[in-house]
Order: sequence, then structure tokens, then C-alpha cells
Amino acid sequence: MGSDNKTLDKVYTATNHAELMDAYKDWANDYDSDTLGSFGYVAPVAAARAMERVAPGTDVRILDAGCGTGQVGQILTDKGFGDIHALDYSEDMLRVAESKGIYGSLMQADLSKELKIEDDAYDAVVCVGTLTYGHVDASAFDELIRVTRANGHICFTIREGAYEDYGYRDRMIALEKADAWELISMEEADYLKNENVTCKLCTYKVLADGAPNA
Ligand SMILES: C[S@@+](CC[C@H](N)C(=O)[O-])C[C@H]1O[C@@H](n2cnc3c(N)ncnc32)[C@H](O)[C@@H]1O
Repeated sequence: MGSDNKTLDKVYTATNHAELMDAYKDWANDYDSDTLGSFGYVAPVAAARAMERVAPGTDVRILDAGCGTGQVGQILTDKGFGDIHALDYSEDMLRVAESKGIYGSLMQADLSKELKIEDDAYDAVVCVGTLTYGHVDASAFDELIRVTRANGHICFTIREGAYEDYGYRDRMIALEKADAWELISMEEADYLKNENVTCKLCTYKVLADGAPNA
């Protein structure tokens, strides 16, 4: 049985991480059918296309940051990408992602904190549906840049509203000014199509060193 808009409300009204993870625990099993069905969640398809445009080949090592149940990983796998690694804070969402058998590894971690990942560990990062209200701080960009090699790419969506409300815009600009990354493209794109919610779909190239001292 699917969920209804109360599920989305629970996710977006969570006041702390415990409440948010509780919301995703309830939602994990229905997440794919709800988002792909009634909500018209199209952001993963658009982000995978953006990744395909900039990736030098399908053998790139990709981090799917905030992978959820693995929708983006699945689309990238279907496009031929074969070295994709998953990271999410919710163990319940990771469990569903793992069951799809598409990730080389899975890691439970908080994107708002320092990640236990080496510098330059990935050729690319994709982060979809995760830079949004109550989920991840703007400081996450610094860590995503750190774990991406120079000239690698980071493709992500930011839900409308949260772009400015959550300090994402300010941090993105500060990191551009600090030469940590360079904007390749930013477009207004559908997000939850049936709910008339849009997002910014962004692609950045990490610059040499990628050390954000902004
Ligand atoms: C709307 S889902 C998007 C999942 C997937 N990328 C997709 O497009 O279907 C948001 C995901 O972000 C995860 N998340 C929320 N806060 C997080 C944090 N601080 N660190 C890592 N993941 C987080 C949630 O557990 C959830 O799986």
C-alpha cells in the first residue's frame, strides 16, 4: 500500500535528525512507488543525464551521496556506469538500496559532518533530493569537493526555496570565489512534477586541489 502526502509532511516537518530518520524508516518500503508514482519524482533521471553529459566514461568512480533507495544509482547502472558507491544517513533507506545489488559499497554517514572518506576518492559525486529542507547543511559542499578529484564533477539538485533559505546559494558562490569549484551548468528543472515542485539542477567541476578555504 502506498503512502500519501502525510509522508512527505513528516519528512519536511522533522525538527531534528532523529525525527527525519524515523520518517524515512516509515517510508523506505513505499518510497519508490510513492515518488515514482503519485509524486512524479523526476529529479533522478535529470541528474543522471547531467552526470552522463560530463563523465569522461562509464568507468568513473561515483559517490551517490544521499542515495536513498538507490534510484539514481539504478538509472546510472542502466546507462552502463559500473563503479557506484552509496552513502546515506538512513539505515532503512540503505537497506532498500543494498537489495538492488547495484552499489560497489554502502556507507552510513551524515553529510553535514566530516566524512570518513579519503581526499580525491571519487571521480564524481551525484547528490539528488538530499539538499533540501532539514536534511543536509550547506557545509556538505565542502566535503563533497574534498572527496572528489580535481577536474571531477559534482551533479546535484536543490529543492526550490531551500536553495536560498538553507544557505546553499551563499556557500556555492563562496566556493566559486575561492576557486574550489567552477559552475558548468545550473538550470531550473522539474523535481516533484505532480506536486508542481521544481529544483535547481547543478553541475560543478572541482578545481585543482579543490581545497575550500572560503
Ligand atoms: C528524498 S531522499 C532522496 C534519495 C535519493 N537520492 C533519490 O533521489 O531518490 C533524501 C535522502 O537523504 C538522506 N539524508 C537526509 N539527511 C541526511 C544527512 N544529513 N546525511 C546523509 N543523508 C541524509 C535521507 O535518509 C534520504 O535517503
